[in-house]
Amino acid sequence: MALLVKNIGTIVGIDRNCRERVCGAEMDCMERLDNAWLIADNGIIKGFGPMSVCPDSEGYEVIDAASGMLLPSYCDSHTHIVYAGSREQEFLDKIHGLSYEQIAQRGGGILNSADRLHATSEDELFRQAMVRIDEIIAMGTGAVEIKSGYGLTTEDELKMLRVIRRISDSSPLTVKATFLGAHAVPKEFKGREDEYVDKVCNEMIPAVAAENLAEAVDVFCDRGFFTVEQTRRIVSRGAEFGLKAKIHANELDFSGGVQLGVEMGALSVDHLESSGLAEIEVLKGSKTMATLLPGAAFFLGMNYPPARDMIASGLAVALASDYNPGSSPSGNMRFVTSLASIRMKMTPTEALWASTLNGAAAMGISERYGSITEGKVANFFITKPMPSFEFFTYAYNTPLIERIVLNGREVKR
Ligand code: NIG
Ligand code: FE
Repeated sequence: MALLVKNIGTIVGIDRNCRERVCGAEMDCMERLDNAWLIADNGIIKGFGPMSVCPDSEGYEVIDAASGMLLPSYCDSHTHIVYAGSREQEFLDKIHGLSYEQIAQRGGGILNSADRLHATSEDELFRQAMVRIDEIIAMGTGAVEIKSGYGLTTEDELKMLRVIRRISDSSPLTVKATFLGAHAVPKEFKGREDEYVDKVCNEMIPAVAAENLAEAVDVFCDRGFFTVEQTRRIVSRGAEFGLKAKIHANELDFSGGVQLGVEMGALSVDHLESSGLAEIEVLKGSKTMATLLPGAAFFLGMNYPPARDMIASGLAVALASDYNPGSSPSGNMRFVTSLASIRMKMTPTEALWASTLNGAAAMGISERYGSITEGKVANFFITKPMPSFEFFTYAYNTPLIERIVLNGREVKR
């Protein structure tokens, strides 16, 4: 049955032109419609308009928005949601003064998660991940990218990717899978990093492609992890199998990952805490999305990326949660937008485009997701009545999400 949402206080995030992304100064402009209705049929937005000409309710399932606002669901383009257990011991280590890199060097960090994942069955991994999936759905996310990268052996990477596929099959979220075999060098390859890269290229990528388990390939291109040359090899090999690139770049240092990502036509370069004029210059005129993860900068106490300079240079900027056990144990995209406003001086409007349409573009799905547009998938949520749209970002911890619709169906919680 088709769905009619009526008495909407304001529809936010309307994009009538179905843009692929929103860039520069345009990021601070957003069409809204007050006192409105919206119809979804067969999972697709069929139309919307003012209540003065609301269609008759007969034959529709009706949601009364009771003057709440309707926002497009978040498109979280960078997460590591499939992991085993948690790492609050490292949280304590950080409190006592160790850095993220020092923890990694002591065998903590990603390698710690890899050990835990190895010892956890596929079913249990799926069960743990689904708890996080339900959590992010309740917080307004409608599409999510999930990376492997806590396996670091062919078998365990495939195990992670199969769990991601299962999530995709069994939740109303739209899920994009990314192979991140080059997330860290496993212990047994210490001092033989290039041999691990050989294994990623010659064994893992073909195995992932044979089961069609990922759409993209990612590499942690940063100080102490993988070099630009190693990243280039992996990205090129992925391209042979039709995998698009998404690169972890410039989190810990000026790694050269941004330049490489643009050169290789990556969908996105992500993190960018260490970015200056050279990185912004190279991103200008490219289609590679600058994806910022302020939740990681917040959790690790790092500098925030220069979002204002990026937007002033005309770049498109996306925001994502980086939900993972080490550097961002939260998938709360609304908090990410508040952090973007508070710490990177992005306006709530810029932050909403960055976390919806531009996030969708960073996953290659903005044709169908990321805005309120006729013909796009009906993914949105309805808030309690609010004095303004900005209130949602400002009152960052007040529970405001009332109802959630994914694929044109209300998600019962
Ligand atoms: O995006 N930077 C690399 N990977 C993750 C952290 C993963 C972890 O610590 O488990 C990130 O921050
Ligand atoms: Fe990450």
